Amino acid sequence: VKRIAVVGGRGFVGGELLRLLVHHPEVEVSGVTSDTRAGQAVETAHPPLRGSGLRYQRRSDLEPVDLLFLAGVHGSTIKILDELSALAPKVVDLTADFRIEDAARMERYYGWHREGEHTAPFVRGLPELHRKQIVDADRVAVPGCMATSAILSLAPLASRGLLSAVEVDARTGSSGSGASGDSANSHALRSGVLRVFAPFGHRHEAEVAEALGVEASMTATATPQVRGVQTLAKVPVGGLTERELIRMYQEDYGAEPFIRLLTNPRGAFRYPDPKVLLGSNYCDIGIAVDNRGKALVMASIDNLMKGAAGGAVQCMNLMLGLPETCGLTFPGLHPV
Ligand SMILES: NC(=O)c1ccc[n+]([C@@H]2O[C@H](COP(=O)([O-])OP(=O)(O)OC[C@H]3O[C@@H](n4cnc5c(N)ncnc54)[C@H](OP(=O)(O)O)[C@@H]3O)[C@@H](O)[C@H]2O)c1
Repeated sequence: VKRIAVVGGRGFVGGELLRLLVHHPEVEVSGVTSDTRAGQAVETAHPPLRGSGLRYQRRSDLEPVDLLFLAGVHGSTIKILDELSALAPKVVDLTADFRIEDAARMERYYGWHREGEHTAPFVRGLPELHRKQIVDADRVAVPGCMATSAILSLAPLASRGLLSAVEVDARTGSSGSGASGDSANSHALRSGVLRVFAPFGHRHEAEVAEALGVEASMTATATPQVRGVQTLAKVPVGGLTERELIRMYQEDYGAEPFIRLLTNPRGAFRYPDPKVLLGSNYCDIGIAVDNRGKALVMASIDNLMKGAAGGAVQCMNLMLGLPETCGLTFPGLHPV
């Protein structure tokens, strides 16, 4: 049994990691930290973990482990990585700190960039695109939630040179902003909204551009849901038919355990809808083609699962030599 610790275990992503790890058959949680709740039971922040017996610790009290998840706020990993590296041979980071390689791009979107040894490579934590590298990696950076959805849904086009630039329309539930979000995310102000909070230039577009190797822009809209991300992109596909496009996607993703191509659209949920994915690690992808040479590429995920903790555990499995799907093969709740 492999020993795992979670740094930043009070947040939404930390809670979701613990939900998965506590029931994972091949690992045990041997440490979970919170700067503000050390000594308190984890269930005070995450009531579904009642009975787990887990307590928050300080980072300085962590024991050596086989793998460490870093799930603090953006900018926290860069500050604590050196201090924690000796504790674990393998690290999976969930913050944005090591997602972007290009320093100018990082500076433009985050206002800072890494220097010196901090440019040490983190592998992008998308097993569908980087499985071999993740297996051999000591450090993996999991992409942002909307970036994950957009990248997975567009990669088959990008890898075939069919994409020159892309505009992504992304929608996200409130848990995407984390538990420490500002008052604009309070129930009174968030309930019922369709709030365009980033008309252009959402940070995740930097990850999409880097991963796909094309110009990318992203519009982001806050929805009233708690969980769930949906991304849409209209892309020119020349004379390619829906059937031809689906065949390409099947070539790339047919054997992927967590990607489902919605190839036979029927019924109310015929296109990717996060509602049927909640709590699961699946990414649903759908394609529709019009008669003017454009395709609408659609994808949905649960942001806390495939968009964060689920994707991170999938990477962990690969890094520890475990079956990739271990502890992750369950569908979403329905109805919910
Ligand atoms: N939410 C998503 O959908 C999502 C998806 C992909 C990636 N990520 C990334 O994953 C990392 C963690 O995201 P998150 O959504 O879990 O962030 P979060 O809920 O804000 O939690 C992160 C940390 O913030 C601190 N914190 C401060 N105020 C808090 C409060 N009122 N409630 C709970 N925690 C509070 C906690 O640490 P202390 O107790 O130690 O202060 C906690 O561990 C971020 O870097 C984020 O960008 C998030």
